[in-house]
Amino acid sequence: MTDDYALFARYYDFMEPWIAPARSAVTRAVRAAGCRRVLDVCCGTGTQAADLRRQGVRAVGLDLSKAMLAQAGRKAGLCGAALVRGDAARLPFPDAVFDGLILSFALHEKPAPVRRAMLAEARRVLTPTGRLFVLDYACPGSLAGRMVLAALSLVERKAGSEHHRAFRDYMNAGGTDAFLASENWIALRRRSFGKGTVVFYETVRHKNVST
Ligand SMILES: C[S@@+](CC[C@H](N)C(=O)[O-])C[C@H]1O[C@@H](n2cnc3c(N)ncnc32)[C@H](O)[C@@H]1O
Repeated sequence: MTDDYALFARYYDFMEPWIAPARSAVTRAVRAAGCRRVLDVCCGTGTQAADLRRQGVRAVGLDLSKAMLAQAGRKAGLCGAALVRGDAARLPFPDAVFDGLILSFALHEKPAPVRRAMLAEARRVLTPTGRLFVLDYACPGSLAGRMVLAALSLVERKAGSEHHRAFRDYMNAGGTDAFLASENWIALRRRSFGKGTVVFYETVRHKNVST
């Protein structure tokens, strides 16, 4: 299996200063919700999971890329059972074992059927009242936001044609706002970052939907 992030992994954290305000918002929301056991799906280099562990939350990071997990393993508090190699669309965990689950910058790079499978898996491993925290791209309303998004689109293009095609489809369909609205999750909180190019959602699953 090829590792799409093999080359990119060691440079990934250069983007962290830009992402940092959104990461802090995720950590604050996880703590405010009282989540004790949290899975960060597609954790990448583990910055979010490491931040949560520093704050006393039992966070586990899962990713498919060995290269990204190797970078994550260098972060304080992230080693051993705190990092798992696995597929977001087939999570290697039993049902209802996490009370928080994070998907950050993970949905936009997948075709729609995979995205939906990832959300179905999130629903399965979360407890019935568990929280899903999503951080991903949104469609900005302002000119400044559209300019930032154009720059981000160049970064996404560098990640490869398949990745870029999924990103374009995701954004053409309305980005994270439209995707989450089409799924059965109730939004408890929404906040935007980066001139409206990134959105953070805290959601809980709709009571009437089982899986
Ligand atoms: C854009 S990075 C986001 C990383 C991190 N969540 C963040 O906020 O910076 C996407 C991550 O998803 C991982 N990934 C892609 N497909 C995956 C899959 N099917 N299962 C698990 N991880 C996957 C990649 O290896 C990469 O680390």
